[in-house]
Amino acid sequence: MKVIQALGVRKKFGEAEALAGVDLEVRAGECVGLLGPNGAGKSTFIGLVYGSVERTGGDLKVFGLDPATHGRAIRKRLGVVTQENALDEGLSVKENMRLFARFVGLPAAQRDTRIDELLHYMSLQHKAEAPIRFLSGGMKRRLTFVRALLSDPEFIILDEPTTGLDPAVRHLLWSKVNELKGRGRTILVTTHYMHEAEVLCDRIVVLFRGKVVDSGSPKALIATHSPGYVALFAEENENKLKAAVAKEWGFALQGKQACVRAPTLTDLLDLQSRTGVQALQLRPANLEDVFLKLTGEELSQND
Ligand SMILES: Nc1ncnc2c1ncn2[C@@H]1O[C@H](COP(=O)(O)OP(=O)(O)O)[C@@H](O)[C@H]1O
Ligand SMILES: [Mg+2]
Repeated sequence: MKVIQALGVRKKFGEAEALAGVDLEVRAGECVGLLGPNGAGKSTFIGLVYGSVERTGGDLKVFGLDPATHGRAIRKRLGVVTQENALDEGLSVKENMRLFARFVGLPAAQRDTRIDELLHYMSLQHKAEAPIRFLSGGMKRRLTFVRALLSDPEFIILDEPTTGLDPAVRHLLWSKVNELKGRGRTILVTTHYMHEAEVLCDRIVVLFRGKVVDSGSPKALIATHSPGYVALFAEENENKLKAAVAKEWGFALQGKQACVRAPTLTDLLDLQSRTGVQALQLRPANLEDVFLKLTGEELSQND
């Protein structure tokens, strides 16, 4: 079963095209990572799925329904953690949960038990009576996460769920997401943390300037775009390295570093001895290398 099926999906804001023909599929039970630099169109795509943004072209089905006409039916089966928390600052943690529980139509008899269970689930029970404005950023993010789980939705969308969270909270959230995966839930997540995407996602879709540039499992993407090993050097050695790098390898500038991709670690060790330039780092290639390669090896203007 397909939870999302997007074909040539477009969204224009005035003259600017945020999505320029997106083909994307999410199958039931999959955890899909939507990656892309700031401004790539990730949140816009999520808005289209949720029915809060209207598309200007293409076909989009969520649970086989068009969000433009069946938004309400879709939202009933969907839990969304939006990029901004959107919590009512004047209310307490529990009041926020109650308000949302009513909103998603959770039967009154189940509300308080479900809320207590979820606050425990994300270690927030000691803050149940606290006003939102007294919570730390991490606590607000955790609350937004459990709030999306109130109706035990079959499909969960997480838009940058861990941005700005400390590592302990990030790991807690990962373990909860894995638990949801284990219970067969379908998940779509955006993140700027490539390691997070590698840990959580069965499949990655890379979005760049409103278009899908590639998709596949983390392993497959690494094998296609950046197989082997990577060495990072100080930028000032650029010319020396460029001249010595074998034609079939990869060379790129990443910020203030020169990045060399080679099939084996031995290639990189040889390069070091030939040039006399020591690498700052030698390591197996990872999803971050793929991301930088596919999105132009530089930060977008919006970053
Ligand atoms: N409501 C809006 N009005 C005008 N432009 C928008 C609006 N929302 C998003 N955009 C633009 O659409 C593009 C994609 O934005 P967004 O989907 O938020 O990207 P991402 O989530 O990948 O960072 C950006 O250029 C952004 O400025
Ligand atoms: Mg966004």
